[in-house]
Amino acid sequence: MLKQEIEDGTVSFADPAFRADVLAGFERRPRAIPARWFYDRRGSELFEAITGLPEYYPTRTETAILSAIGADLAARVGEGRAVVEFGSGSSTKTPLLLEAIAPSAYVPIDISGDFLRESSRVLSARFPDLLVLPFEADFMRLMTLPRTIADAPKLGFFPGSTIGNMTPLAAVDLLRAMRASLGEGAMLVIGMDRIKAPDILVPAYDDAAGVTAAFNLNLLERIDRELDGTIPVDAFRHRAIWNDDRARIEMHLEATRDAEFTIDGRPFAMAAGETIHTENSHKYGARDARILLRSGGWTPIAEWTDPEDRFAIYLAEAQAERPAP
Ligand code: AVJ
Repeated sequence: MLKQEIEDGTVSFADPAFRADVLAGFERRPRAIPARWFYDRRGSELFEAITGLPEYYPTRTETAILSAIGADLAARVGEGRAVVEFGSGSSTKTPLLLEAIAPSAYVPIDISGDFLRESSRVLSARFPDLLVLPFEADFMRLMTLPRTIADAPKLGFFPGSTIGNMTPLAAVDLLRAMRASLGEGAMLVIGMDRIKAPDILVPAYDDAAGVTAAFNLNLLERIDRELDGTIPVDAFRHRAIWNDDRARIEMHLEATRDAEFTIDGRPFAMAAGETIHTENSHKYGARDARILLRSGGWTPIAEWTDPEDRFAIYLAEAQAERPAP
């Protein structure tokens, strides 16, 4: 078993799922590693920094939309819903929603117990009267939610265009799993980034200050740190490309020279110009977004965008299935 020594002498074991995904990802062609592995402590800090970059419009645009629609949203979802957030919550967006709608409970779901406990603590301090029920789970799977909220009407919350990280097939699976977990009659608030000109999209993922490059390259540093890797990180560069056919930004790491290295003792070789695919960020036009929601079992009820139509927030409902005509 791989172990890693932290400064104070404590020993932690590398996540076996990380190891399995990395080794399989380096063996397959094209090489690819799931984007979820970006978010170690350093990766999460770099993502925080990305959200404040001038080129990275999604976070500030979605936050502005959310703060403008509070009253409308509250009128449409009603009081007393249990808010179930997929992912452990952001310190700005989550309070905006909770303040707007007077929920009966807040259930953040995350696979990382550490993030979950930390963000729940911050939220409880800010909303002392709110019932906060952190729930450690992989939200890609069907879940049985805490019994305390069994009878409350639910409101799912999935901001950030995180759905864009998934291929449409995986996105539909997730939407359907959310519907099954939340139940008929539930509502969903979900953020999706719009398709727009590549000269806006590409810089958002390849900023002048190089923060996104550092975020992407940190994945290799994480492999070296946690999986006893010898990847020469300086032999790689960050690439962000717009794939118009699939309507997505792709991030890759490209070898700038031939490199040989090991990961957990296993040898790998990459030639100059070879790439590792590290992230997809799918973008959805207005009709695309609605058909995606419907495919996942969610009926669109309302949508809000910013004046430049860069980003959209959808309210959708898990309506009872009606027979086709
Ligand atoms: C957190 C998945 C929404 O795709 O825009 C930002 C991640 N990657 N810059 C996105 C990300 C590079 C982000 N999401």
